[in-house]
Amino acid sequence: MWMGPDWIVQEMKDSGLRGRGGAGFPSGLKWSFMPKASDGRPSFLVINADESEPGTCKDREIMRKDPHKLVEGCLLAGYAMRARACYIYIRGEYFNEAMVMDEAIHEAYTAGLIGKNACGSGYDFDMYLHRGAGAYVCGEETALIESLEGKQGKPRLKPPFPANVGVFGCPTTVTNVETIAVAPTILRRGASWFTGFGRKNNAGTKLFAISGHVNNPIVVEEEMSIPFRELIDKHCGGVRGGWNKLQAVIPGGSSVPVLPIEECEEALMDFDDLKARGSGLGTAAVTVMDDTVDMIAAIRRLAHFYRHESCGQCTPCREGTGWLETILERMEVGDADVREIGMLDEISRQIEGHTICALGDAAAWPVQGLIRRFQPVIEERIADPQGFDFEAHFQHAWSGEKFKNAEWTKEFGGGKDQEVDPGAHTNIIRPLLEN
Ligand SMILES: Cc1cc2nc3c(=O)[nH]c(=O)nc-3n(C[C@H](O)[C@H](O)[C@H](O)COP(=O)(O)O)c2cc1C
Ligand code: SF4
Repeated sequence: MWMGPDWIVQEMKDSGLRGRGGAGFPSGLKWSFMPKASDGRPSFLVINADESEPGTCKDREIMRKDPHKLVEGCLLAGYAMRARACYIYIRGEYFNEAMVMDEAIHEAYTAGLIGKNACGSGYDFDMYLHRGAGAYVCGEETALIESLEGKQGKPRLKPPFPANVGVFGCPTTVTNVETIAVAPTILRRGASWFTGFGRKNNAGTKLFAISGHVNNPIVVEEEMSIPFRELIDKHCGGVRGGWNKLQAVIPGGSSVPVLPIEECEEALMDFDDLKARGSGLGTAAVTVMDDTVDMIAAIRRLAHFYRHESCGQCTPCREGTGWLETILERMEVGDADVREIGMLDEISRQIEGHTICALGDAAAWPVQGLIRRFQPVIEERIADPQGFDFEAHFQHAWSGEKFKNAEWTKEFGGGKDQEVDPGAHTNIIRPLLEN
């Protein structure tokens, strides 16, 4: 802090850190958008701890096990932005994490590190923890701001951008937990240390949350630009049943297009390489799918999620997400015409880029990825629905059906033979299959 706000912002710019919330916007530049002198309004820092993108569970690890790092980051970022206070907006389901964070904030107050005259610097900085109610769209920065203000979490039209008119009408920066939690280490070790990791324009270390069909699902901090295969082999004990069993990977949270096995061989886990392959790093939540997965069913399940989470403000998103799901439901069981594949793609393109927030894009991209990479699978299903073994590919956990997890627990050496109820989702597909 003794180096001053401008030094902090410059060091963050030099570090090349790109936001870890999904879009990868340069963080130092974003911090520099905040006003240096107040026009009478206070400025605010808002930490996005909503973490609702399916597969994403990296911020949770920070809040559970390293909450002080986030508090320290908030203080430094808040100071650099001349923010009067910070709000951490945490998803409602993260109850335990909220308790841990709250405790860490109280400890920091007690130690005089935050609050009035934070760290004896003469700077007053308050921190508040705010629990959301569990809506994916509230992770979108302007919906988050609305929700924080006590309204329905519906995204705002931009401009004005939050740096001009944010929470309570005041200049605000909304930024991800991981982005802020890594800042103290960058400032302590120096920007050049951080740029020593990863490729140009993709600097630093990164948390990867790997789930699905690997032997050891894990959240791990690794160097940016690590080859996908190395990440899986080094930290996850490889793909379940061996590399050749791999079918596809969603490398950056559910919103990014799927990559088939051929791309995975060569892929580097960074923003630019994955973009060049027609996908994206997103939140770096890696979902690995082996050949037991029916890809149409997988993307249909994601379409259901986006339909459910659409806030309904924009017609293309509100109506289009429903159409995506219902068409995919039919395609999954082969009850479609091949000409509808093009229509499905067209619907997704009519959603993409035509909505207030990026939830519309997030709904469109997985469908586009399915068509780009797995069109022959859809065509085959339509041509010969009877030729597909639905039972062998049925993912019970997605269906809402109760199922026994004995097989899984046996395979991984432990646990009881429990009956699993994956939740209150209605089972739409099973009756279609049976009929
Ligand atoms: C539908 C939707 C959900 C989002 N959810 C999150 C989230 O849970 N956490 C997050 O950090 N960013 C989320 N974002 C991105 C935020 O709008 C914003 O870009 C991000 O918090 C900026 O942080 P960063 O600059 O540190 O990356 C979401 C965006 C959209 C469109
Ligand atoms: S894109 Fe969807 S979620 Fe976003 S504002 Fe429009 S309707 Fe709401």
